Amino acid sequence: MTTYAVTAASGQLGRLAVEDLLARGTAPADVVAVVRSPGKVADLAARGVVVRTGDYDDRASLTTALAGVDRLLLVSGSEPGRRIPQHTNVVEVAEAAGVQRIAYTSLLRADTSGSPLAADHAGTEAVLASSGVAVSLLRNSWYLENYTSQLGQYLENGAILGAAHDGRVSAATRADYAAAAVTALLTDEDGDQVHELAGASFTLAELAVTITEVTGTTVTYSDVSTEEYAAALRGFGLDEGTAGFVAALDASIAAGDLHTDSTDLEELIGRPATSLAEAVRAARA
Ligand SMILES: NC(=O)c1ccc[n+]([C@@H]2O[C@H](COP(=O)([O-])OP(=O)(O)OC[C@H]3O[C@@H](n4cnc5c(N)ncnc54)[C@H](OP(=O)(O)O)[C@@H]3O)[C@@H](O)[C@H]2O)c1
Repeated sequence: MTTYAVTAASGQLGRLAVEDLLARGTAPADVVAVVRSPGKVADLAARGVVVRTGDYDDRASLTTALAGVDRLLLVSGSEPGRRIPQHTNVVEVAEAAGVQRIAYTSLLRADTSGSPLAADHAGTEAVLASSGVAVSLLRNSWYLENYTSQLGQYLENGAILGAAHDGRVSAATRADYAAAAVTALLTDEDGDQVHELAGASFTLAELAVTITEVTGTTVTYSDVSTEEYAAALRGFGLDEGTAGFVAALDASIAAGDLHTDSTDLEELIGRPATSLAEAVRAARA
């Protein structure tokens, strides 16, 4: 019997991974959902999933949460800049607990990427590499939901504002990344593995065209400089730091950081990734 644990199981990706583990026939009693707030996953507990409290900032909680776990999906935390010490806690506790493999949700080409998000992931990958635990790096590119969650706003404004220029984004749904993560957990992989995970690529102008085609409402992409984009975001009410960070992410797209031709995702999930048009259609519904 193999025991699988998923951290951040109360979040969108973690919950999808737990659901996918169960859908593929893993016994609920062999799945540990690690969360900060058990009440958020009461439905999983009711279905027999083992729910344990674990906070990346609290090593004692992680020690209890990871006892007896064989394979761990470590979903990256949500506080950029704080993630390396948080993830280090998880990796060190997992190693002490005898976890045999850690699958970690990293970032596309985290080791060479110029993305403002890359340092946390590269730092975590280094911690994993120096641990004695076998590692599956799930280097996720952008979520399609980063865009489809804003569909209502795009349709209302008839416009998408950005500073990504003609940079291409290779994106996929959270569900597809979760499915890839579950395959990596369930497969008896040898040694350390690196998976560069992404779906088909598009520019933000092509995103606008797809939204127009799928919804019948004309949406155009308005491309501005990084500085103009940051100023516009401040005008929409974002604080200076957040506006600069979001604008820097578009600059990173313009530089090609989120573009790849890798087919690792569809190979892991055993089917084509959900397309942009399908994701827009689902969000519209
Ligand atoms: N590739 C992309 O486009 C992209 C986009 C956004 C995020 N991400 C990354 O992918 C991760 C998962 O995405 P998501 O959509 O599932 O995010 P999400 O829905 O916001 O969920 C974040 C999860 O992280 C948990 N968490 C945060 N801090 C924690 C801590 N100190 N200890 C334990 N758990 C903690 C949260 O727990 P609570 O429920 O207790 O708050 C929640 O379960 C994010 O955290 C981020 O690192 C990637």
